[in-house]
Amino acid sequence: MPIRFGSDSGTEISVQNGMCLDCHTGNTGSSWHGSAHDDNEVACADCHDSHVAHDPVLQIATQPEVCFDCHKQQRSQSLKPYAHPMADGKMACTGCHAPHGETTDSLLARQTINDTCYECHAEKRGPYLWEHAPVVEDCSNCHDPHGSNHPAMLSKRAPLLCQSCHSQAGHPSVAYTDSGLADGTASQYLLGQSCSNCHTQVHGSNHPSGSRLMR
Ligand code: HEC
Ligand code: HEC
Ligand code: HEC
Ligand code: HEC
Ligand code: HEC
Ligand code: HEC
Ligand code: HEC
Ligand code: HEC
Repeated sequence: MPIRFGSDSGTEISVQNGMCLDCHTGNTGSSWHGSAHDDNEVACADCHDSHVAHDPVLQIATQPEVCFDCHKQQRSQSLKPYAHPMADGKMACTGCHAPHGETTDSLLARQTINDTCYECHAEKRGPYLWEHAPVVEDCSNCHDPHGSNHPAMLSKRAPLLCQSCHSQAGHPSVAYTDSGLADGTASQYLLGQSCSNCHTQVHGSNHPSGSRLMR
Protein backbone atom coordinates (compact mmCIF):
# COMPACT_ATOMS: atom_id res chain seq x y z
CA MET A 1 0.00 0.00 0.00
CA PRO A 2 1.45 3.40 -0.93
CA ILE A 3 2.13 5.81 1.92
CA ARG A 4 -0.30 8.73 1.93
CA PHE A 5 0.70 12.15 3.21
CA GLY A 6 -0.85 14.81 5.45
CA SER A 7 -2.26 14.87 8.99
CA ASP A 8 -5.37 12.96 7.96
CA SER A 9 -3.56 10.20 6.07
CA GLY A 10 -3.15 7.76 8.93
CA THR A 11 0.62 7.64 8.56
CA GLU A 12 2.45 8.87 11.64
CA ILE A 13 3.53 12.50 11.15
CA SER A 14 7.08 12.06 12.39
CA VAL A 15 7.56 9.18 9.93
CA GLN A 16 6.20 11.23 6.99
CA ASN A 17 8.18 14.32 7.89
CA GLY A 18 11.29 12.22 8.41
CA MET A 19 11.04 11.04 4.81
CA CYS A 20 10.88 14.58 3.49
CA LEU A 21 13.66 15.68 5.78
CA ASP A 22 15.93 12.93 4.45
CA CYS A 23 16.35 15.15 1.41
CA HIS A 24 15.24 18.60 2.68
CA THR A 25 17.00 19.35 5.97
CA GLY A 26 18.88 22.04 4.10
CA ASN A 27 15.62 23.80 3.13
CA THR A 28 13.82 23.72 6.45
CA GLY A 29 16.79 24.73 8.54
CA SER A 30 17.77 23.54 11.98
CA SER A 31 14.99 25.39 13.78
CA TRP A 32 12.20 23.17 12.39
CA HIS A 33 12.69 20.69 15.25
CA GLY A 34 10.84 21.92 18.32
CA SER A 35 9.09 24.73 16.39
CA ALA A 36 5.35 25.33 16.97
CA HIS A 37 4.45 23.41 13.82
CA ASP A 38 6.74 20.46 14.55
CA ASP A 39 5.60 20.30 18.19
CA ASN A 40 1.96 20.29 17.13
CA GLU A 41 2.49 17.53 14.59
CA VAL A 42 1.82 19.59 11.50
CA ALA A 43 2.97 17.57 8.49
CA CYS A 44 5.14 19.00 5.72
CA ALA A 45 2.36 17.87 3.39
CA ASP A 46 -0.27 19.89 5.34
CA CYS A 47 1.36 22.96 3.80
CA HIS A 48 3.08 21.56 0.73
CA ASP A 49 1.51 20.00 -2.31
CA SER A 50 4.35 18.50 -4.28
CA HIS A 51 2.01 16.97 -6.87
CA VAL A 52 1.21 20.20 -8.68
CA ALA A 53 3.35 22.38 -10.91
CA HIS A 54 3.10 25.40 -8.60
CA ASP A 55 2.92 24.47 -4.93
CA PRO A 56 0.32 27.01 -3.65
CA VAL A 57 2.15 27.68 -0.37
CA LEU A 58 5.20 28.89 -2.32
CA GLN A 59 3.21 31.55 -4.22
CA ILE A 60 2.42 34.88 -2.53
CA ALA A 61 -1.11 35.07 -3.92
CA THR A 62 -2.17 31.59 -2.83
CA GLN A 63 -0.16 31.04 0.34
CA PRO A 64 -2.55 32.67 2.86
CA GLU A 65 -5.38 30.27 1.91
CA VAL A 66 -3.15 27.33 2.87
CA CYS A 67 -2.44 28.82 6.28
CA PHE A 68 -6.06 29.91 6.82
CA ASP A 69 -7.07 26.26 6.71
CA CYS A 70 -5.86 26.03 10.29
CA HIS A 71 -5.59 29.70 11.32
CA LYS A 72 -9.22 30.84 11.18
CA GLN A 73 -8.73 33.81 13.47
CA GLN A 74 -6.12 35.35 11.16
CA ARG A 75 -8.43 34.72 8.21
CA SER A 76 -11.23 36.71 9.76
CA GLN A 77 -8.86 39.49 10.77
CA SER A 78 -7.42 39.73 7.25
CA LEU A 79 -10.93 40.36 5.91
CA LYS A 80 -11.49 43.38 8.15
CA PRO A 81 -11.62 46.81 6.47
CA TYR A 82 -8.03 47.74 7.37
CA ALA A 83 -5.47 45.00 6.80
CA HIS A 84 -2.20 44.20 5.11
CA PRO A 85 -3.02 43.42 1.48
CA MET A 86 -3.17 39.65 2.02
CA ALA A 87 -6.74 39.11 0.87
CA ASP A 88 -5.82 40.79 -2.43
CA GLY A 89 -2.92 38.39 -2.90
CA LYS A 90 -0.23 41.09 -2.72
CA MET A 91 1.38 39.99 0.51
CA ALA A 92 1.81 36.66 2.24
CA CYS A 93 2.25 35.47 5.80
CA THR A 94 5.94 34.94 5.06
CA GLY A 95 6.33 38.74 4.88
CA CYS A 96 6.43 38.48 8.67
CA HIS A 97 6.63 34.78 9.57
CA ALA A 98 9.12 31.95 9.07
CA PRO A 99 6.80 28.91 9.03
CA HIS A 100 9.64 26.38 9.25
CA GLY A 101 10.55 27.76 12.64
CA GLU A 102 12.70 30.50 14.01
CA THR A 103 14.19 31.06 17.40
CA THR A 104 11.76 33.95 17.83
CA ASP A 105 8.34 34.21 19.48
CA SER A 106 5.42 33.61 17.11
CA LEU A 107 7.72 32.29 14.38
CA LEU A 108 8.60 35.84 13.40
CA ALA A 109 10.93 36.29 10.46
CA ARG A 110 13.11 38.72 12.42
CA GLN A 111 14.36 38.74 15.99
CA THR A 112 11.67 41.07 17.36
CA ILE A 113 8.28 42.39 16.24
CA ASN A 114 9.77 45.82 15.53
CA ASP A 115 12.65 44.44 13.48
CA THR A 116 10.08 42.52 11.45
CA CYS A 117 8.06 45.69 10.77
CA TYR A 118 11.14 47.77 9.93
CA GLU A 119 11.87 45.41 7.02
CA CYS A 120 9.16 47.23 5.07
CA HIS A 121 8.44 50.33 7.20
CA ALA A 122 12.03 51.46 7.58
CA GLU A 123 11.08 55.12 8.12
CA LYS A 124 9.54 54.18 11.47
CA ARG A 125 12.88 53.00 12.83
CA GLY A 126 14.16 56.50 13.45
CA PRO A 127 16.43 57.42 15.12
CA TYR A 128 14.23 60.15 16.57
CA LEU A 129 15.26 63.01 18.76
CA TRP A 130 12.01 62.59 20.68
CA GLU A 131 10.92 58.99 20.88
CA HIS A 132 7.50 57.70 21.90
CA ALA A 133 8.15 54.88 24.38
CA PRO A 134 5.43 52.42 23.22
CA VAL A 135 6.63 52.70 19.60
CA VAL A 136 10.19 51.79 20.49
CA GLU A 137 8.90 48.95 22.63
CA ASP A 138 6.48 47.17 20.29
CA CYS A 139 4.46 48.26 17.23
CA SER A 140 1.68 45.91 18.31
CA ASN A 141 1.02 48.13 21.33
CA CYS A 142 -1.15 50.10 18.91
CA HIS A 143 -1.44 48.11 15.67
CA ASP A 144 -2.95 44.75 14.92
CA PRO A 145 -0.83 43.44 12.03
CA HIS A 146 -3.42 40.86 10.92
CA GLY A 147 -6.15 43.45 10.42
CA SER A 148 -8.57 45.65 12.31
CA ASN A 149 -11.80 47.63 12.05
CA HIS A 150 -9.98 50.92 12.65
CA PRO A 151 -8.02 53.03 10.14
CA ALA A 152 -4.29 52.31 10.04
CA MET A 153 -4.97 48.93 11.64
CA LEU A 154 -5.11 50.51 15.07
CA SER A 155 -6.18 48.13 17.81
CA LYS A 156 -8.60 50.74 19.17
CA ARG A 157 -10.06 54.01 17.88
CA ALA A 158 -7.41 56.72 18.27
CA PRO A 159 -8.58 58.72 21.33
CA LEU A 160 -9.47 55.55 23.23
CA LEU A 161 -6.18 53.99 22.20
CA CYS A 162 -4.19 56.93 23.53
CA GLN A 163 -6.31 57.15 26.66
CA SER A 164 -5.65 53.51 27.46
CA CYS A 165 -2.23 54.73 28.60
CA HIS A 166 -2.56 58.50 29.08
CA SER A 167 -4.62 59.95 31.90
CA GLN A 168 -7.09 62.64 30.95
CA ALA A 169 -6.31 64.80 33.95
CA GLY A 170 -5.05 68.33 33.32
CA HIS A 171 -5.15 68.16 29.55
CA PRO A 172 -7.29 69.85 26.93
CA SER A 173 -7.94 66.50 25.27
CA VAL A 174 -10.74 65.72 27.71
CA ALA A 175 -12.83 68.47 26.13
CA TYR A 176 -14.91 66.43 23.76
CA THR A 177 -18.12 68.26 24.65
CA ASP A 178 -18.92 71.97 24.85
CA SER A 179 -19.22 71.82 28.62
CA GLY A 180 -15.72 70.38 28.88
CA LEU A 181 -14.25 73.55 27.39
CA ALA A 182 -13.27 76.50 29.55
CA ASP A 183 -15.44 79.01 27.70
CA GLY A 184 -18.13 76.53 26.81
CA THR A 185 -17.60 76.89 23.05
CA ALA A 186 -17.03 74.00 20.74
CA SER A 187 -13.69 73.85 18.96
CA GLN A 188 -13.35 71.94 15.71
CA TYR A 189 -9.95 70.82 16.88
CA LEU A 190 -11.38 69.03 19.86
CA LEU A 191 -14.90 67.87 19.23
CA GLY A 192 -15.13 64.35 17.89
CA GLN A 193 -11.52 64.62 16.81
CA SER A 194 -8.56 62.56 17.66
CA CYS A 195 -5.44 63.24 19.69
CA SER A 196 -3.39 62.99 16.51
CA ASN A 197 -4.97 66.21 15.22
CA CYS A 198 -2.44 67.95 17.41
CA HIS A 199 0.01 65.16 18.22
CA THR A 200 0.75 64.34 14.61
CA GLN A 201 4.13 62.70 15.22
CA VAL A 202 3.02 59.68 17.23
CA HIS A 203 5.93 57.58 15.98
CA GLY A 204 8.56 60.09 17.07
CA SER A 205 9.74 63.58 16.23
CA ASN A 206 12.98 65.08 14.98
CA HIS A 207 11.90 68.69 15.51
CA PRO A 208 13.95 70.52 18.19
CA SER A 209 10.75 71.40 20.02
CA GLY A 210 8.92 68.19 19.22
CA SER A 211 8.95 66.76 22.72
CA ARG A 212 5.14 66.71 22.78
CA LEU A 213 5.12 64.87 19.43
CA MET A 214 3.29 67.77 17.81
CA ARG A 215 5.71 68.65 15.02
C1 HEC B 1 14.53 11.65 -2.53
C2 HEC B 1 14.68 13.01 -2.08
C3 HEC B 1 13.40 13.81 -1.81
C4 HEC B 1 12.37 13.49 -0.96
C5 HEC B 1 12.20 12.24 -0.11
C6 HEC B 1 11.46 14.61 -1.01
N1 HEC B 1 11.94 15.57 -1.86
FE1 HEC B 1 11.13 17.40 -2.17
N2 HEC B 1 12.52 17.78 -3.61
C7 HEC B 1 13.57 16.97 -3.90
C8 HEC B 1 14.32 17.55 -5.00
C9 HEC B 1 15.56 16.98 -5.65
C10 HEC B 1 13.66 18.78 -5.32
C11 HEC B 1 14.04 19.77 -6.38
C12 HEC B 1 15.12 20.58 -5.78
C13 HEC B 1 15.09 21.97 -6.18
O1 HEC B 1 14.34 22.33 -7.08
O2 HEC B 1 15.80 22.72 -5.49
C14 HEC B 1 12.55 18.91 -4.39
C15 HEC B 1 11.72 19.99 -4.33
C16 HEC B 1 10.78 20.19 -3.32
C17 HEC B 1 10.08 21.42 -3.08
C18 HEC B 1 10.29 22.74 -3.81
C19 HEC B 1 9.40 22.77 -5.00
C20 HEC B 1 9.55 24.09 -5.73
O3 HEC B 1 8.67 24.37 -6.52
O4 HEC B 1 10.52 24.82 -5.48
C21 HEC B 1 9.24 21.21 -2.02
C22 HEC B 1 8.29 22.21 -1.39
C23 HEC B 1 9.43 19.82 -1.62
N3 HEC B 1 10.36 19.25 -2.42
C24 HEC B 1 8.75 19.26 -0.57
C25 HEC B 1 8.87 17.92 -0.23
C26 HEC B 1 8.03 17.26 0.76
C27 HEC B 1 6.91 17.94 1.55
C28 HEC B 1 8.47 15.97 0.86
C29 HEC B 1 7.87 14.87 1.71
C30 HEC B 1 6.48 14.59 1.41
C31 HEC B 1 9.57 15.84 -0.08
N4 HEC B 1 9.77 17.03 -0.72
C32 HEC B 1 10.31 14.69 -0.23
C33 HEC B 1 13.90 15.78 -3.30
C34 HEC B 1 13.10 15.11 -2.38
C1 HEC C 1 3.30 25.81 8.08
C2 HEC C 1 3.47 25.51 6.68
C3 HEC C 1 4.74 24.76 6.29
C4 HEC C 1 5.17 23.58 6.81
C5 HEC C 1 4.55 22.74 7.91
C6 HEC C 1 6.36 23.24 6.07
N1 HEC C 1 6.64 24.20 5.14
FE1 HEC C 1 8.12 24.16 3.77
N2 HEC C 1 7.64 26.04 3.16
C7 HEC C 1 6.56 26.76 3.62
C8 HEC C 1 6.58 28.06 3.02
C9 HEC C 1 5.57 29.18 3.26
C10 HEC C 1 7.70 28.11 2.18
C11 HEC C 1 8.20 29.29 1.36
C12 HEC C 1 9.22 30.00 2.23
C13 HEC C 1 9.45 31.42 1.85
O1 HEC C 1 8.94 31.88 0.85
O2 HEC C 1 10.13 32.06 2.65
C14 HEC C 1 8.33 26.80 2.26
C15 HEC C 1 9.45 26.41 1.52
C16 HEC C 1 9.90 25.08 1.45
C17 HEC C 1 10.83 24.55 0.48
C18 HEC C 1 11.44 25.33 -0.64
C19 HEC C 1 12.54 26.06 0.01
C20 HEC C 1 13.34 26.90 -0.88
O3 HEC C 1 14.43 27.20 -0.40
O4 HEC C 1 12.88 27.27 -1.94
C21 HEC C 1 11.06 23.24 0.81
C22 HEC C 1 11.96 22.26 0.10
C23 HEC C 1 10.25 22.94 1.98
N3 HEC C 1 9.55 24.08 2.32
C24 HEC C 1 10.22 21.73 2.62
C25 HEC C 1 9.51 21.46 3.77
C26 HEC C 1 9.64 20.24 4.57
C27 HEC C 1 10.54 19.10 4.25
C28 HEC C 1 8.77 20.36 5.61
C29 HEC C 1 8.53 19.42 6.77
C30 HEC C 1 9.70 19.08 7.57
C31 HEC C 1 8.10 21.65 5.47
N4 HEC C 1 8.59 22.28 4.36
C32 HEC C 1 7.10 22.09 6.30
C33 HEC C 1 5.60 26.32 4.51
C34 HEC C 1 5.67 25.16 5.26
C1 HEC D 1 -2.40 21.80 9.45
C2 HEC D 1 -2.66 23.00 10.24
C3 HEC D 1 -1.72 24.19 10.07
C4 HEC D 1 -1.36 24.83 8.88
C5 HEC D 1 -1.74 24.48 7.47
C6 HEC D 1 -0.56 25.98 9.31
N1 HEC D 1 -0.44 26.02 10.67
FE1 HEC D 1 0.48 27.45 11.78
N2 HEC D 1 0.08 26.43 13.49
C7 HEC D 1 -0.65 25.25 13.54
C8 HEC D 1 -0.70 24.80 14.93
C9 HEC D 1 -1.44 23.55 15.43
C10 HEC D 1 0.03 25.74 15.68
C11 HEC D 1 0.30 25.74 17.18
C12 HEC D 1 -0.92 26.10 17.97
C13 HEC D 1 -1.34 27.50 17.68
O1 HEC D 1 -0.58 28.43 17.97
O2 HEC D 1 -2.44 27.69 17.14
C14 HEC D 1 0.48 26.76 14.75
C15 HEC D 1 1.17 27.89 15.11
C16 HEC D 1 1.50 28.92 14.25
C17 HEC D 1 2.09 30.19 14.64
C18 HEC D 1 2.35 30.64 16.06
C19 HEC D 1 3.64 30.12 16.55
C20 HEC D 1 3.90 30.44 17.99
O3 HEC D 1 5.05 30.23 18.40
O4 HEC D 1 2.99 30.92 18.69
C21 HEC D 1 2.29 30.91 13.50
C22 HEC D 1 2.90 32.28 13.39
C23 HEC D 1 1.84 30.09 12.40
N3 HEC D 1 1.36 28.91 12.88
C24 HEC D 1 1.91 30.48 11.08
C25 HEC D 1 1.51 29.69 10.01
C26 HEC D 1 1.70 30.05 8.62
C27 HEC D 1 2.36 31.32 8.16
C28 HEC D 1 1.16 29.04 7.88
C29 HEC D 1 1.11 28.93 6.37
C30 HEC D 1 2.40 29.11 5.66
C31 HEC D 1 0.64 28.05 8.80
N4 HEC D 1 0.89 28.47 10.07
C32 HEC D 1 0.00 26.88 8.41
C33 HEC D 1 -1.24 24.59 12.50
C34 HEC D 1 -1.13 24.94 11.17
C1 HEC E 1 2.62 42.36 8.96
C2 HEC E 1 3.20 41.27 9.66
C3 HEC E 1 2.40 40.00 9.77
C4 HEC E 1 1.79 39.30 8.75
C5 HEC E 1 1.75 39.63 7.29
C6 HEC E 1 1.22 38.11 9.37
N1 HEC E 1 1.48 38.10 10.70
FE1 HEC E 1 0.97 36.68 12.04
N2 HEC E 1 1.83 37.72 13.56
C7 HEC E 1 2.49 38.92 13.40
C8 HEC E 1 2.96 39.38 14.69
C9 HEC E 1 3.74 40.66 14.95
C10 HEC E 1 2.57 38.40 15.63
C11 HEC E 1 2.80 38.43 17.12
C12 HEC E 1 1.62 39.15 17.71
C13 HEC E 1 1.79 39.44 19.14
O1 HEC E 1 2.57 38.77 19.81
O2 HEC E 1 1.07 40.35 19.56
C14 HEC E 1 1.85 37.37 14.88
C15 HEC E 1 1.29 36.24 15.46
C16 HEC E 1 0.69 35.21 14.73
C17 HEC E 1 0.16 33.98 15.29
C18 HEC E 1 0.17 33.63 16.75
C19 HEC E 1 -1.03 34.27 17.34
C20 HEC E 1 -1.14 34.06 18.80
O3 HEC E 1 -2.20 34.48 19.30
O4 HEC E 1 -0.21 33.55 19.44
C21 HEC E 1 -0.37 33.25 14.27
C22 HEC E 1 -1.05 31.90 14.37
C23 HEC E 1 -0.16 34.02 13.05
N3 HEC E 1 0.47 35.20 13.36
C24 HEC E 1 -0.52 33.57 11.79
C25 HEC E 1 -0.42 34.34 10.63
C26 HEC E 1 -0.89 33.90 9.34
C27 HEC E 1 -1.57 32.57 9.05
C28 HEC E 1 -0.60 34.90 8.46
C29 HEC E 1 -0.93 34.98 6.99
C30 HEC E 1 -2.33 34.86 6.67
C31 HEC E 1 0.06 35.96 9.21
N4 HEC E 1 0.14 35.59 10.52
C32 HEC E 1 0.53 37.14 8.66
C33 HEC E 1 2.69 39.60 12.23
C34 HEC E 1 2.21 39.24 11.00
C1 HEC F 1 6.72 42.48 3.82
C2 HEC F 1 6.49 43.91 3.98
C3 HEC F 1 5.76 44.38 5.22
C4 HEC F 1 6.03 44.08 6.53
C5 HEC F 1 7.12 43.15 7.07
C6 HEC F 1 5.14 44.85 7.32
N1 HEC F 1 4.33 45.62 6.52
FE1 HEC F 1 2.93 46.96 7.11
N2 HEC F 1 2.43 47.31 5.18
C7 HEC F 1 2.99 46.70 4.08
C8 HEC F 1 2.24 47.04 2.89
C9 HEC F 1 2.54 46.56 1.48
C10 HEC F 1 1.18 47.88 3.33
C11 HEC F 1 0.10 48.52 2.47
C12 HEC F 1 0.60 49.82 2.00
C13 HEC F 1 -0.44 50.50 1.18
O1 HEC F 1 -1.57 50.03 1.09
O2 HEC F 1 -0.10 51.58 0.67
C14 HEC F 1 1.34 48.05 4.76
C15 HEC F 1 0.54 48.84 5.55
C16 HEC F 1 0.68 49.00 6.94
C17 HEC F 1 -0.12 49.89 7.76
C18 HEC F 1 -1.29 50.73 7.34
C19 HEC F 1 -0.95 51.87 6.50
C20 HEC F 1 -2.16 52.71 6.20
O3 HEC F 1 -1.94 53.69 5.52
O4 HEC F 1 -3.27 52.40 6.63
C21 HEC F 1 0.31 49.73 9.05
C22 HEC F 1 -0.23 50.42 10.28
C23 HEC F 1 1.35 48.74 9.02
N3 HEC F 1 1.56 48.33 7.72
C24 HEC F 1 2.00 48.29 10.14
C25 HEC F 1 2.89 47.23 10.15
C26 HEC F 1 3.41 46.61 11.35
C27 HEC F 1 3.04 47.01 12.76
C28 HEC F 1 4.28 45.64 10.94
C29 HEC F 1 5.05 44.67 11.81
C30 HEC F 1 4.25 43.79 12.68
C31 HEC F 1 4.31 45.64 9.49
N4 HEC F 1 3.45 46.61 9.05
C32 HEC F 1 5.11 44.82 8.70
C33 HEC F 1 4.09 45.87 4.09
C34 HEC F 1 4.67 45.35 5.23
C1 HEC G 1 1.36 54.72 20.36
C2 HEC G 1 0.66 54.04 19.33
C3 HEC G 1 1.43 53.58 18.11
C4 HEC G 1 2.50 52.73 18.06
C5 HEC G 1 3.16 52.01 19.21
C6 HEC G 1 2.85 52.58 16.67
N1 HEC G 1 1.99 53.29 15.89
FE1 HEC G 1 1.90 53.31 13.86
N2 HEC G 1 0.31 54.59 13.93
C7 HEC G 1 -0.28 55.08 15.08
C8 HEC G 1 -1.37 55.99 14.73
C9 HEC G 1 -2.26 56.74 15.71
C10 HEC G 1 -1.42 56.03 13.33
C11 HEC G 1 -2.40 56.82 12.46
C12 HEC G 1 -2.05 58.27 12.50
C13 HEC G 1 -1.04 58.59 11.50
O1 HEC G 1 -1.36 58.53 10.32
O2 HEC G 1 0.11 58.91 11.87
C14 HEC G 1 -0.35 55.14 12.86
C15 HEC G 1 -0.06 54.92 11.51
C16 HEC G 1 0.92 54.03 11.05
C17 HEC G 1 1.19 53.76 9.65
C18 HEC G 1 0.46 54.35 8.45
C19 HEC G 1 0.66 55.83 8.32
C20 HEC G 1 2.09 56.23 8.30
O3 HEC G 1 2.48 57.03 9.16
O4 HEC G 1 2.89 55.69 7.52
C21 HEC G 1 2.23 52.86 9.62
C22 HEC G 1 2.87 52.27 8.38
C23 HEC G 1 2.60 52.58 10.99
N3 HEC G 1 1.79 53.29 11.83
C24 HEC G 1 3.62 51.72 11.36
C25 HEC G 1 4.05 51.53 12.66
C26 HEC G 1 5.21 50.75 13.02
C27 HEC G 1 6.10 50.02 12.04
C28 HEC G 1 5.30 50.78 14.38
C29 HEC G 1 6.40 50.19 15.26
C30 HEC G 1 7.74 50.68 14.95
C31 HEC G 1 4.20 51.59 14.87
N4 HEC G 1 3.47 52.05 13.79
C32 HEC G 1 3.92 51.82 16.21
C33 HEC G 1 0.06 54.75 16.36
C34 HEC G 1 1.11 53.92 16.73
C1 HEC H 1 1.01 51.59 25.43
C2 HEC H 1 0.91 52.87 26.14
C3 HEC H 1 0.81 54.13 25.31
C4 HEC H 1 -0.07 54.41 24.29
C5 HEC H 1 -1.13 53.50 23.69
C6 HEC H 1 0.17 55.77 23.92
N1 HEC H 1 1.19 56.29 24.66
FE1 HEC H 1 1.93 58.20 24.52
N2 HEC H 1 3.38 57.73 25.87
C7 HEC H 1 3.47 56.54 26.55
C8 HEC H 1 4.64 56.59 27.40
C9 HEC H 1 5.12 55.47 28.33
C10 HEC H 1 5.24 57.85 27.21
C11 HEC H 1 6.48 58.42 27.87
C12 HEC H 1 6.05 59.16 29.10
C13 HEC H 1 7.21 59.79 29.79
O1 HEC H 1 8.32 59.78 29.29
O2 HEC H 1 6.95 60.34 30.88
C14 HEC H 1 4.40 58.56 26.25
C15 HEC H 1 4.62 59.87 25.83
C16 HEC H 1 3.74 60.61 25.05
C17 HEC H 1 3.84 62.03 24.74
C18 HEC H 1 4.96 62.95 25.22
C19 HEC H 1 4.61 63.28 26.62
C20 HEC H 1 5.58 64.09 27.34
O3 HEC H 1 5.53 64.02 28.58
O4 HEC H 1 6.39 64.78 26.73
C21 HEC H 1 2.77 62.37 23.98
C22 HEC H 1 2.41 63.74 23.45
C23 HEC H 1 2.00 61.15 23.77
N3 HEC H 1 2.62 60.11 24.44
C24 HEC H 1 0.87 61.09 23.00
C25 HEC H 1 0.20 59.90 22.68
C26 HEC H 1 -0.83 59.80 21.70
C27 HEC H 1 -1.39 60.96 20.90
C28 HEC H 1 -1.22 58.50 21.68
C29 HEC H 1 -2.26 57.85 20.79
C30 HEC H 1 -1.99 57.92 19.33
C31 HEC H 1 -0.42 57.78 22.64
N4 HEC H 1 0.44 58.66 23.22
C32 HEC H 1 -0.54 56.42 22.92
C33 HEC H 1 2.62 55.46 26.45
C34 HEC H 1 1.60 55.33 25.53
C1 HEC I 1 -5.99 70.79 20.61
C2 HEC I 1 -4.72 70.17 20.53
C3 HEC I 1 -4.51 68.91 21.38
C4 HEC I 1 -5.25 67.77 21.36
C5 HEC I 1 -6.49 67.44 20.56
C6 HEC I 1 -4.58 66.86 22.27
N1 HEC I 1 -3.49 67.45 22.82
FE1 HEC I 1 -2.15 66.60 24.08
N2 HEC I 1 -1.15 68.36 24.27
C7 HEC I 1 -1.46 69.50 23.58
C8 HEC I 1 -0.56 70.56 23.99
C9 HEC I 1 -0.55 71.98 23.46
C10 HEC I 1 0.30 69.99 24.95
C11 HEC I 1 1.44 70.65 25.70
C12 HEC I 1 0.92 71.11 27.03
C13 HEC I 1 2.05 71.65 27.85
O1 HEC I 1 3.19 71.65 27.40
O2 HEC I 1 1.76 72.03 28.97
C14 HEC I 1 -0.10 68.60 25.10
C15 HEC I 1 0.53 67.71 25.95
C16 HEC I 1 0.23 66.36 26.00
C17 HEC I 1 0.95 65.36 26.78
C18 HEC I 1 2.14 65.64 27.65
C19 HEC I 1 1.79 65.56 29.12
C20 HEC I 1 0.84 66.63 29.55
O3 HEC I 1 -0.26 66.29 30.04
O4 HEC I 1 1.16 67.81 29.44
C21 HEC I 1 0.33 64.17 26.58
C22 HEC I 1 0.71 62.82 27.18
C23 HEC I 1 -0.78 64.39 25.68
N3 HEC I 1 -0.81 65.72 25.34
C24 HEC I 1 -1.64 63.40 25.25
C25 HEC I 1 -2.79 63.67 24.53
C26 HEC I 1 -3.82 62.68 24.26
C27 HEC I 1 -3.77 61.24 24.75
C28 HEC I 1 -4.76 63.28 23.51
C29 HEC I 1 -6.10 62.68 23.02
C30 HEC I 1 -6.94 62.10 24.03
C31 HEC I 1 -4.35 64.65 23.29
N4 HEC I 1 -3.15 64.84 23.94
C32 HEC I 1 -5.04 65.57 22.53
C33 HEC I 1 -2.44 69.65 22.61
C34 HEC I 1 -3.41 68.71 22.30
